[in-house]
Amino acid sequence: MRQSAPLRELARETSLEARHLVLPMFVREGLAEPAAIGSLPGVVQHSLDSLKRAAADAAEAGVGGVMLFGVPSARDAIGSGADDPDGILNVATRAVAAEVGDALVVQTDLCLDEFTDHGHCGVLSASGAVDNDATLERYCSMALAQARAGSQVLGLSGMMDGQVAAARETLDAEGFQDTLLLAYSAKYASAFYGPFREAVDSQLQGDRRAYQMDPGNRREGVREALLDQDEGADIVMVKPAMAFLDVLREVRNAVDLPVWAYQVSGEYAMIEAAAANGWIDRRVSVLESLLSIRRAGADVVLSYWAVEAARWLR
Ligand code: PBG
Repeated sequence: MRQSAPLRELARETSLEARHLVLPMFVREGLAEPAAIGSLPGVVQHSLDSLKRAAADAAEAGVGGVMLFGVPSARDAIGSGADDPDGILNVATRAVAAEVGDALVVQTDLCLDEFTDHGHCGVLSASGAVDNDATLERYCSMALAQARAGSQVLGLSGMMDGQVAAARETLDAEGFQDTLLLAYSAKYASAFYGPFREAVDSQLQGDRRAYQMDPGNRREGVREALLDQDEGADIVMVKPAMAFLDVLREVRNAVDLPVWAYQVSGEYAMIEAAAANGWIDRRVSVLESLLSIRRAGADVVLSYWAVEAARWLR
């Protein structure tokens, strides 16, 4: 069954198409020109203008969607920029939604870490720990701001307990029943987020192990996905992807929702660095990594290679 290319095509169990890919994008407040990110070669912090152009390019390449992250010029303890209609992420969402219409699905990261001066994903209590329930109030306000700005899928990436139910209830009460919730259900406290922290100028000291998951836990990943399904998630996610393919497969088998995976910044940086050294074939490695994430059970993969891979797959 492997002796010729046509036979291999007939026998291949897993497909990878442009529509299976979502492009994460960064937009930085006050930038006139896009700025390179040292640890993510080929990825930039966009200006509003370059973001709109790049989103239009992504639509043209046929990717399924874009996921927007904002980098504000000022931060405070509660992340005020996150739910301000004039905050960079909400401004960018309106601009991209107007630019691409319904050529692709406009999605936004719903988390406070880019907007807080301490870099944590929530607001802090007097002891300095993240206050789960006070954070939920901030997330609900962000959810409304993002839905009003035209985001169709809100990516709840903060790992607070009850975040899906809280956002769903708020959105429904305000007439946004059709705004979808992507729950980052099994999000691990991972070293592979390193380059992302440079991309968003993260202010974080320390780590997120008090709310993101322990990489040693698989059953807990499944439990988190089932909880989010019960809370009303439309999509559940496993993140990172390549170091957690077993979790991805178990979640795929356990829930009946679409399951997405995030091929994170460190996964991108690893392959780019090895390829730049001539140690591996870049294109073959990128496509194999994406196909493998699909094989493990992801319906859709968030990847910084989304547009380039979509063009290769044409
Ligand atoms: C949190 C968030 C993070 C990433 C996506 N959303 C960072 C974190 O949890 O520290 C990481 C994505 C990547 O590494 O590509 N808003």
